[in-house]
Amino acid sequence: MPASDVSGFYKKGIEERLQIVKGFAGLNDEEVNELRKFGAMSFDVADRMIENVIATQQLPLGIATNFKINGRDYLVPMAVEEPSIVAAASKAAGIARLSGGFKAEASPPIMIGQIQLLNVKDPEKAVAAIEKNSRTIIGLANEADPVLVKFGGGAKKIETRALDTERGKMVIVHLLVDVRDAMGANAVNTMCEKIAGKIEELSKGEARLRIISNLAVYRTVKSRAVFGKKALEESFKQGNLKGEEIIEHILDAYHFAANDVFRACTNNKGIMNGVDAVAIATGQDFRALEAGAHAFASLKGKYTALTRYRKDREGNLLAEIELPIAVGLVGGAVKTSPVARVAVKILGVKTASELAQVMASVGLAQNLAALRALATEGIQKGHMRLHAKNIAVMAGAKGKEIDAVAAKMVEEKNIMVDRAKEILLELKKK
Ligand code: MEV
Repeated sequence: MPASDVSGFYKKGIEERLQIVKGFAGLNDEEVNELRKFGAMSFDVADRMIENVIATQQLPLGIATNFKINGRDYLVPMAVEEPSIVAAASKAAGIARLSGGFKAEASPPIMIGQIQLLNVKDPEKAVAAIEKNSRTIIGLANEADPVLVKFGGGAKKIETRALDTERGKMVIVHLLVDVRDAMGANAVNTMCEKIAGKIEELSKGEARLRIISNLAVYRTVKSRAVFGKKALEESFKQGNLKGEEIIEHILDAYHFAANDVFRACTNNKGIMNGVDAVAIATGQDFRALEAGAHAFASLKGKYTALTRYRKDREGNLLAEIELPIAVGLVGGAVKTSPVARVAVKILGVKTASELAQVMASVGLAQNLAALRALATEGIQKGHMRLHAKNIAVMAGAKGKEIDAVAAKMVEEKNIMVDRAKEILLELKKK
């Protein structure tokens, strides 16, 4: 068994790294050549972004159409591996568009930095001392990022509380920072580290963790849209369902999610299909978004759906979403990844808040599309059509053969690589 304790892997050049991995994993030349195809992001760029780079992992980048948000039209780049997501978002956005599109709003970009204080003899006194000196602490924090302050951001507020734990009482300090157009992790972490000494002095405790919280409760985005009953009926000509019935079905699906954690989890996964796809396309930290969204969904003590649905006076479907979205347009992959830079340009967003409003709207569109499909015909039909194309490619179909092989498999309701190979052979014989 080859060993994984490769010394100084990071110091080696791309070729040497590839040869090590090739030997370790028994890769053949063809497989190594696949890794050598760097695509839009060169080895140099990738190697500056993370450590020990040997390749780039590429995803399809699709464009969701039809989005109108706060009266503005957007073409939305989405990077994702799952079929149907881009089509579903576009379709739902097309229906929302008929009633004016999405209305979105974002709260100010306030992130929370946490400082954990241990061995505090008198937590109450410590909390009072920190609160009393909050102006000084905020001033100190702001010394760490004069540029952010210049643009109207910076540390704004301190919140302090005692926390009972199995390892005794701790004091937790929250530093609230307006991060403007940044995602905020760097700015907030730097500030937390900067003020930790002062906080130790005031609390007579020991500052241990100094880190951003990904539960961005102060940085939330709301988006809502009306999905008209007629538009729902006409856009999804399925069975004999009337628009009113489709809406009732969607409401049943929503109330299932609102009251059941197993369903709420999947409901929110569907929302994040859209949010993450835009996040990945634009070089955002999608793990932070995921963590924040799911923690937010359980904030009231019960994990629930991030979306809400009800009927308006005319009996149309009113859909809403609220979730924290911490994204940035300055720093990080949004600037270093060439495709992310172009994706931001395609979107045309000028602020992080605008990007967050687009993402929330895409999440809402995604959820509506999923609920509509699940509550009526089921999602497999649509999925299978696209899945069949992938299977056709796996079977060796090229160009026009792909659609022909896929269509035949869908017609036969038999979507298997072996069957795809047979159909391909038959086609070739013809
Ligand atoms: C699949 O990626 C997403 C769905 O499961 C979402 C949902 O169930 O709401 C279809």
